[in-house]
Amino acid sequence: MKADLLISLRMSLTVSLMVLLFISRVVAQDGWAVNYNSKSVCTLKGSALTMECTYTPPSNHSVQKPFWTKELVTSGSEHPDLLDDPEYRGRVQYLGDEHRDCSLRFKTVRETDQSKYYFTFITNQTGGKYQGAGGVDLSVTDLQVEVPERVIEGDNVTLTCKPICSLTVRPTFTWYRNGSSLSSSNDSLHLQPVSSDNKDRYHCGVLGQNSPEVTLNIRYGPKSISVSISPSGEIVEGSSVTLTCSSDANPPVQNYTWFKGTSSVGKGETYTMKKISSVDSGEYKCRSSNEHGEKFSEALTLNVLYPPKNISVSISPSGEIMEGSSLNLTCSSDGNPPVQNYTWFKGASLVAEGETYTMKKISSVDSGQYKCKCSNEHGEKVSEALTLNVLYPPKNISVSVSPYGEIMEGRSVTLTCSSDANPPVEYNWIKGTSSVGKGETYTMKKISSVDRGEYKCRSSNKHGEKLSEALTLNVLCESVFY
Ligand SMILES: *[C@@H]1O[C@H](CO)[C@@H](O)[C@H](O)[C@H]1NC(C)=O
Ligand SMILES: *[C@@H]1O[C@H](CO)[C@@H](O)[C@H](O)[C@H]1NC(C)=O
Ligand SMILES: *[C@@H]1O[C@H](CO)[C@@H](O)[C@H](O)[C@H]1NC(C)=O
Ligand SMILES: *[C@@H]1O[C@H](CO)[C@@H](O)[C@H](O)[C@H]1NC(C)=O
Ligand SMILES: *[C@@H]1O[C@H](CO)[C@@H](O)[C@H](O)[C@H]1NC(C)=O
Ligand SMILES: *[C@@H]1O[C@H](CO)[C@@H](O)[C@H](O)[C@H]1NC(C)=O
Ligand SMILES: *[C@@H]1O[C@H](CO)[C@@H](O)[C@H](O)[C@H]1NC(C)=O
Ligand SMILES: *[C@@H]1O[C@H](CO)[C@@H](O)[C@H](O)[C@H]1NC(C)=O
Ligand SMILES: *[C@@H]1O[C@H](CO)[C@@H](O)[C@H](O)[C@H]1NC(C)=O
Ligand SMILES: *[C@@H]1O[C@H](CO)[C@@H](O)[C@H](O)[C@H]1NC(C)=O
Repeated sequence: MKADLLISLRMSLTVSLMVLLFISRVVAQDGWAVNYNSKSVCTLKGSALTMECTYTPPSNHSVQKPFWTKELVTSGSEHPDLLDDPEYRGRVQYLGDEHRDCSLRFKTVRETDQSKYYFTFITNQTGGKYQGAGGVDLSVTDLQVEVPERVIEGDNVTLTCKPICSLTVRPTFTWYRNGSSLSSSNDSLHLQPVSSDNKDRYHCGVLGQNSPEVTLNIRYGPKSISVSISPSGEIVEGSSVTLTCSSDANPPVQNYTWFKGTSSVGKGETYTMKKISSVDSGEYKCRSSNEHGEKFSEALTLNVLYPPKNISVSISPSGEIMEGSSLNLTCSSDGNPPVQNYTWFKGASLVAEGETYTMKKISSVDSGQYKCKCSNEHGEKVSEALTLNVLYPPKNISVSVSPYGEIMEGRSVTLTCSSDANPPVEYNWIKGTSSVGKGETYTMKKISSVDRGEYKCRSSNKHGEKLSEALTLNVLCESVFY
């Protein structure tokens, strides 16, 4: 009958209320009661726990079986004793007795122990089964170190040691860094300020229970930024070159910007120059940034090597080149490394080495086509031909006569003057002291005795003139032979 009363506890609210009033009267009458020290308990996984409990059986009843169960007393159902449950056997111990104390002890609490527990007892009276209403609500919690969601380098950080439910007893906390205990016994640990180098591991402990270790995920702007180049070594024009920027940052850098000198030339972790050219030489930097800052790398100097190009020959002094003067031919070219080896050719033959080819006392034989060849370790190049035209006054002047031999009156005779000069000469013919003609040749058709005499030719250009030796014409009379 009394069991029925207790069962009705599970009924609707109005009914329960009536029943409660009834119970209190019954309790007063029968004088039975169960008192749980705490209605709810929060404890750490792995810890030991005692649920304190006292009770008074009804008078004239003798308790035959006091036990704890997870089941509410309902009609006809069995209420397994916790001590018989394989899940609990050996881990729980009934500390109470059969008339007053009903405490229960957990040697080690498991996560699965989270539940409601009821103290129940059976007496020697028929139907004498009693259960303490409400039971004890056991929460099992873990310890964990709570770290602020965002930690930025330089922040003052507070770590908190937290059970999920509020522990029934306020315990003493212990903090550990890299496994060694620290002096703080509070549930919070202050770190001020934190550096991004902080790789320390922290955990907290309570009553022999330890939280998992945490390390701080400290956010910071880019640092130790550097630029590398691939391939390493010499960079020759036409090759492909990749610059890579790397920097340490948290969160990792997403934005890289490349600069040549002061102007931005690209974005991205790498910057590739396909077919690099000499104009790509210069200083390169990269800038990396994340939400916490930005940083520039040191400058990396790119020195693009290339064979000689844009080669030209200059002549000094400029203007006309007179025989006997001195002359410098200078070869200039662009190359990296700068051209060291210059060779000079006249036609196909090598005539000199060196950037400047000095010609002293130039003579007519020096006229011709000159080229210079430049080379560095990456190649060679030959200049356009430069034509040297050496100017000089007439020389080696001579007069010849045709036909050769004795000259008969009435015949035709041609005198030819030749001389060597640059530019070409003008010729003048002189008989005795008077000028008789112009041109390279002087022809006398039908020569007569009056044409006898000494002939000279004068050869002249703007650089000078020269008179030939005299040629004596001796005209024979035909009549002399006959
Ligand atoms: C308990 O038992 C005694 C004697 O055996 C009796 O006098 C008393 O009335 C009983 N009390 C109740 C509540 O039954
Ligand atoms: C129950 O036990 C009490 C005390 O030992 C005794 O007085 C009572 O007679 C018993 N009742 C029954 C029904 O055995
Ligand atoms: C961190 O704490 C130190 C010492 O208490 C204080 O001087 C400093 O201003 C704090 N810094 C920040 C960012 O709160
Ligand atoms: C310990 O923690 C409590 C609450 O978290 C705080 O009120 C108290 O000031 C702390 N004590 C020390 C010494 O930090
Ligand atoms: C803790 O250990 C980390 C490596 O796990 C180390 O970098 C750090 O310096 C240590 N801190 C201390 C205070 O020993
Ligand atoms: C990265 O670049 C994008 C586009 O240029 C810009 O919108 C973003 O704010 C940049 N982020 C950072 C962290 O600088
Ligand atoms: C060649 O050199 C001259 C003189 O140094 C310069 O003016 C010209 O721009 C250069 N040409 C090329 C193609 O580099
Ligand atoms: C040729 O070069 C040499 C050496 O540089 C110099 O001394 C000389 O005066 C130059 N001659 C001419 C004609 O420019
Ligand atoms: C330059 O000339 C020197 C000596 O003539 C020679 O040993 C060297 O190999 C040449 N260098 C180049 C790049 O032609
Ligand atoms: C003069 O010219 C002739 C014929 O052209 C030549 O044989 C001779 O070698 C020249 N002499 C000089 C000194 O140039």
